[in-house]
Parts: sequence; C-alpha cells; structure tokens
Amino acid sequence: MGNILSERRILLGVTGSIACYKAADLASKLTQQGASVTAILTAAARQFITPLTFQSVTGQRAYVDEDLWGHEGHIQHLGLAHGADLIAIAPASANTIAKIAHGICDNLLTLTCLAATCPILIAPAMDSGMYTHPTTQANVEILKQRGVYVAGPATGRMASGLTGIGRMLEPSEILGHLRWVLGRQEGRLKGKRLVVTAGGTSEPIDAVRVITNRSSGKQGFAIAQAAIDQGAEVTLITGPTALPTPVGARRIEVNTAQEMLTAVLEAISAADALVMAAAVADFRPETVVTEKLSKEEGIPQLRLTLAPDILSAVAHFRSRSGYPRVVIGFAAESGDLVERARQKLVRKRLDLIVANDITAPDSGLGADTNRVTLIDPAGNVQSYPLMTKDEVAQILIEKLVSLLEISS
Ligand code: C5P
Repeated sequence: MGNILSERRILLGVTGSIACYKAADLASKLTQQGASVTAILTAAARQFITPLTFQSVTGQRAYVDEDLWGHEGHIQHLGLAHGADLIAIAPASANTIAKIAHGICDNLLTLTCLAATCPILIAPAMDSGMYTHPTTQANVEILKQRGVYVAGPATGRMASGLTGIGRMLEPSEILGHLRWVLGRQEGRLKGKRLVVTAGGTSEPIDAVRVITNRSSGKQGFAIAQAAIDQGAEVTLITGPTALPTPVGARRIEVNTAQEMLTAVLEAISAADALVMAAAVADFRPETVVTEKLSKEEGIPQLRLTLAPDILSAVAHFRSRSGYPRVVIGFAAESGDLVERARQKLVRKRLDLIVANDITAPDSGLGADTNRVTLIDPAGNVQSYPLMTKDEVAQILIEKLVSLLEISS
C-alpha cells in the first residue's frame, strides 16, 4: 500500500507571492515523500523564484508560459492536466484564484486547471485586505462550491509587517491537506471510522506533579496519518504531546486513563475499528492532593491503585454491541515479548496485537523507529525488521484493511 504520496503525479502551480519561497520547500517535501512533482510558474511567480529552483528540488522539468507556445505545441496544458493525480496551487494569488473561478485561461497554469479533471487544492496567499475583499471571498466560495479544496490561509505576520489573515499555510500543513485529499479519492478505508489512541497518560499526584511515562505519541499519530491517507475518518484520542494533529483528524486531548476511557467509550460506539497505541497508566495515585505537597510536611507516601483497563472495557462493550468490529492493541514489553503479548491478545480479546521490545534504544517509547512483531488469534507471529514508525503505521493499516474486509 505504501505512502499515499509515493508515485503520485502532482502539478504544483506557483503564482506571484512572497510565499513562493515556501513553495520550493513544499516541492522538496513532496519529492522526498516519493511524489513526482511538476511545477508550473506564472509570470508573476518568476519575479520571486526561478524554474531552476523547482527543477533542482524535484528532478523534473518546471514549466513556464513560454512552453505553451514552444515546440511541444498548444496541447502542452492538456498533457500536463491529464497526466496529473492532483493540482496544488501554492501560493495561490488573488489574481489566479479569480481567473480559475471564472474560467479565464490566459496562461499555462490557468489553462491546465481548466483542462484538468483531477482534484485541485489551492493555498491562498495574499494581503489580508485582498483576502477579505468581497471579490476574493466570492471567488473562493465559487471554487469551494465547485469542489476545489481550499487550505488556509492562516492568520499571522504578513509581508507588510501587519498581522492578519492571508498567510500561506506552512508546507508541512499543505502536505497534510494534500494527503487528506488523495485519501478521499481512492483510499481503501473510505467511509470507515477509526479511533486511534496515542501518547502516554498523566496521572496527578498533587496540584503540579504527575505520574506519566516516556511515550511520545509518535506511533499513534503515524497510525492516524496512515489511516487518513487511506480515506478513514479518524478520531485521535491523545495524552499530552506537542505533536501536530494530522490534517483531517478529530483530536481529543485527555490526561488520565479514566479520561481516555470515557473518550474511547464515547468514540467507539460509532466506529469500525479501534487502535489502542496509547501507553495507558496501569497504576494511579489512590488519592490526589489538591494543593502542592510540600517538603516541610515530610516525604509523602504514595499509595497506588489500579487505573481502569480501557481494552477490557472495550471488550465488554464489544460483546454487547458488536462494535468496533476490529480492535488492535499494543504490548510494550521488556522480556518474553511474544508470550506476554499473546497472553494480552487473548485476555483483551484483540484481533491483532503489536508487540515491541522497549529495551532496545531504537524501538518503542519515544524513538522514531520501531521493531515490531504482529500476533493474531490464529497464532500467526510476524516479526519485522527495524522500521520508521510511519512504515509500521502503513503495515498496520494494511492489516486493518484486511481485518475489516474479513469481518464485514
Ligand atoms: O501497558 P500494556 O502493555 O499492558 O498495554 C497493552 C495494551 O492495553 C495497549 O494497547 C494499551 O493501550 C492497552 N491498555 C489499556 N488500559 C490500560 C493499560 C493498557 O487499554 N490501563
């Protein structure tokens, strides 16, 4: 299944704006994700940046208006339009937005847009006054009505030095929007609702102190992104983490295991699948002191009690309702990996368990990579080599697609 961007043909329209310098970064990021990126620059864009910049970062020829009248003839725009999976115009100026809203095609980019049947996404970039002008607003509305995706703009510092709405989204955010659009076109989880938990929970001791763990949330967030790539509607329930929300995910932030339990039980009633990647506390302080504990009062003796077991509650809910149809859990272990994971699979009535050895520095909590073993109820044990958490997420989503197919 792979990364949704790999081998996708993306036309990147670049129009006149100071945000052109960010378009080069976007082209580079897309290329690094495996997409084949062809840039088309308008005349105004060329005042800010050259075709050579895009050719250098994409390894593909970049096009300009002269190409329309070049030796490849007047069908240049048709060739570009019909070969594309997606057109992204970033930055999209007020002028280009107005032109494509009204079918004006006086340059290679606008002609290509009119000839294209693939999805189009625009990332507006302009001064606040121009963006909020009723003319631009009406043009953006026309495009939205016609199914063009509009990403941003953001509010922030403008080139003029003033603060307002009109900044182009950051390339990483535009990338997220492009993934979401592609997933909606042909994703294998289209129409499926998925709940993913991520990160570590945080159990209060007193007004300022908590018991938590080293989970970064990276694996859960990568799973959410891989599911969005396949068109799923994702609810991401996460413990405290600064990771950015994958574009398209509904993020619910929780602290404690109890809060996560409540959020999970609410979300799964309408879900097809649950992936419990969160590192949930097994123990929590029996009582929480409302003020800050002070040294002067001596060393506190913490009494711990069991935190709720979310997957057990899910198993109970599932036995009555049949939902979610598929449940995948994780087992972070420091010894006897497969056997302990197998016991958890049975005890928590899972369809698949992902076991990882947390003693390896390049695997498990906090790392960017993971080394996992997948175990299913039929006794199949599949061990994978060291991979990025994104790659692990893609493998898991592939498994999820087949589990959902089997269960339907
Ligand atoms: O922490 P442990 O390895 O036991 O977690 C196994 C699985 O159980 C994970 O998927 C985790 O999200 C889930 N879990 C849970 N409730 C807990 C502890 C863990 O649902 N209190």
